[in-house]
Amino acid sequence: MVEAVQTSDGFIRTAGREFLVTFYTALRSLKLYPLENAQVQKSLDDLANTSDQILESEHEIELRVTGEFLFVNSTRLRLDLDNYASFSHVLGVLKAAGVGLVRAEVGADRREWTTALSLLLAAAGRGGHGESLLELQVKMRDAGVAHIVMEPGIDSEASEEEEQQKKEAAKRTYQRSVAVTKEVISSVRMGRSASVKKVKRAVQAIVDQVLADETSLVGLSTLRDYDDYTFTHSVNVCIFSITLGKKLGFAKLQLYDLGMAALFHDVGKARVPLEVLNKEGSLTDEDWRVMQAHPWLGVLTLFGLRGYGEVPYRSMIAAYEHHMKRDLTGYPKCLRPRTPSIFSRIIAVADGFDAATSRRVYNTNPLQPDSVLHEMLNNPRRGLDPVVVKAFINLLGVYPVGTMVILDTYELAIVVAANPDATEVHRPLVRVVSDQGGSITFPGFVANLAERDTAATPLRSIIKVTDPDKYGIRVSDYFV
Ligand SMILES: [Fe+2]
Ligand SMILES: [Fe+2]
Repeated sequence: MVEAVQTSDGFIRTAGREFLVTFYTALRSLKLYPLENAQVQKSLDDLANTSDQILESEHEIELRVTGEFLFVNSTRLRLDLDNYASFSHVLGVLKAAGVGLVRAEVGADRREWTTALSLLLAAAGRGGHGESLLELQVKMRDAGVAHIVMEPGIDSEASEEEEQQKKEAAKRTYQRSVAVTKEVISSVRMGRSASVKKVKRAVQAIVDQVLADETSLVGLSTLRDYDDYTFTHSVNVCIFSITLGKKLGFAKLQLYDLGMAALFHDVGKARVPLEVLNKEGSLTDEDWRVMQAHPWLGVLTLFGLRGYGEVPYRSMIAAYEHHMKRDLTGYPKCLRPRTPSIFSRIIAVADGFDAATSRRVYNTNPLQPDSVLHEMLNNPRRGLDPVVVKAFINLLGVYPVGTMVILDTYELAIVVAANPDATEVHRPLVRVVSDQGGSITFPGFVANLAERDTAATPLRSIIKVTDPDKYGIRVSDYFV
């Protein structure tokens, strides 16, 4: 029980401690035993009682983490041997979930505390900080917890800096990969023998980056703010393929192999004359014949590259098969039934998406990413492996990063990340870049489309995807 002490500060010092101990005991027992267990029930009763008493006198409870300290309503709780275990445990759980602040107001009852603590434990188990916190907030709201909120700490500024560093590292990896690809392809085009050593290192850097942080590089690839389609296309297909391979459970060495195969899937185009490759307007039959030779020209080219190690059979097969389609109606034509290799199937999906969403000479009207994904899944003439396509959609979200959307609030927004909650694929995180009258704002603000009001109605929903060009917006300006 909390003893009422005369001064508010003194009251909080005692009651705050009591609150923390009951908070800790409830967390511990919820973690160890099922909800109906008597010990769990008692610990929740205690927590609700302490919370009620503080709310009655202070109207709110604010449990804040700053560095290694815990504050309740701005009063720092002193650490001593008795409460050391409970302090460090609560600190650990909050930090693991990315929570820096727990705030409760009048109305926070036993039911809300039970839900909030169970969700907090689950979030701490998932780890991952920022993402799990976002998910936690959404789940709490969905579960009707209206009087308790959990927010990131002040420490999150440091992690924002880390985020920024990660983004820059991703950009450097991307640009370096484009540069080395350009070098090799240009050498091939000029008939010089080219070494792939640098390319290998670039692909390894992509694999490492994708394994460490899947989203930054994929984000860069869907942004498509780059000229030089030939080279960025190869790098994009490489990044998408590696990320897909990771999703499908490939080991690191397989990912290197897959990445190399993806980067060189179109290497045969280096032997297609530029006037055909860059031709504006429609291609003649003869042009098509030359274009469609690029798979086997690729195999020949791969024979001539130095520094690959052993003969790159798998890259050759992927170069040869990536336009074949599952029913073999593509090219090159084959005489006998065969199943394209898993590398070829992955590369075909990555290739199809990148080609359809890129701007280039004979594709002046690129499709919006969401309709491309839809078509890839549902149009059998595409001849893609549906399992791989599903994994790909899973990866990009229904609305890939960089997609411009119109919201039901008449605001324009740009998708900045898939929703961390996998059940909310249609509700990504967006940056709202206009007011409701349609005037463009910069830099705008980030909104989670899964955010709902108390009646569980989403605050913002996507009505449709639109073309940023229509509004004179350069999507990449919002990503610096
Ligand atoms: Fe191709
Ligand atoms: Fe391609």
